[in-house]
Amino acid sequence: MRVALVGGTGAFGVALATRLLAAGHEPVIGSRDAERAASIAADLGCEGAANEDAVRSAELVVLATKADGAVEAARSLREAIGTTPVLSVAAELRFTKEGVLPTPEPTSIAERIQAVLDAPVVAGLHSLAASNLGGAEPPDEDALICGDDPAAKALVLELASSLTAGRALDAGPLAGARALEGMTAVIVNLNKRYKAHAGLRVTGIP
Ligand SMILES: NC(=O)c1ccc[n+]([C@@H]2O[C@H](COP(=O)([O-])OP(=O)(O)OC[C@H]3O[C@@H](n4cnc5c(N)ncnc54)[C@H](OP(=O)(O)O)[C@@H]3O)[C@@H](O)[C@H]2O)c1
Repeated sequence: MRVALVGGTGAFGVALATRLLAAGHEPVIGSRDAERAASIAADLGCEGAANEDAVRSAELVVLATKADGAVEAARSLREAIGTTPVLSVAAELRFTKEGVLPTPEPTSIAERIQAVLDAPVVAGLHSLAASNLGGAEPPDEDALICGDDPAAKALVLELASSLTAGRALDAGPLAGARALEGMTAVIVNLNKRYKAHAGLRVTGIP
């Protein structure tokens, strides 16, 4: 699958591109700076382009920008993305001396992205840390996926199942993205407390 990674120059984009390549997909690293994208893509052995060019030829667009830039990035790429399905992986975190807190915003980033795009938006992969995703082997974790559009969700579930040694699980409508995004804060606190790279495994599903 040809997958455009908007903001794919960061830790998560590079890890996802690495895993996509290993699984036989075609990642395209996107950036606000085409030269930066090309340089990082060349190191990985894939294509790189300005975000706008990367999304035009993709079957799936992953918004992998810094979380607080994701909604504006989507808005600015609305025309170029068109109706190509979009995966939101972003989670806003607040770092305080008590620990990492989820965003106080009442709606998820994924729903805010959906509000500015014509394309169907799916949320997922939040719990897969870049350090686990970009390792030598697929991470032994489940990937929880939320979305309202059945075809877009099926596409993301298919992709996610090729990235992890665990399962890609349909976790319901896009409104559940708020829980997935909030869970990221919980996982980061676990990582800090136990000096770990935690992921999720859902029990009780055959
Ligand atoms: N890191 C993880 O383990 C992890 C795990 C799961 C999900 N996520 C999510 O994945 C996303 C990327 O994480 P990351 O750690 O790779 O983030 P990051 O390194 O902070 O940022 C990724 C890229 O976003 C672009 N960017 C920064 N500010 C932007 C803005 N205002 N508008 C548009 N693009 C902007 C930059 O690319 P250019 O300057 O090249 O355009 C940057 O290289 C986040 O939304 C995060 O919540 C991360």
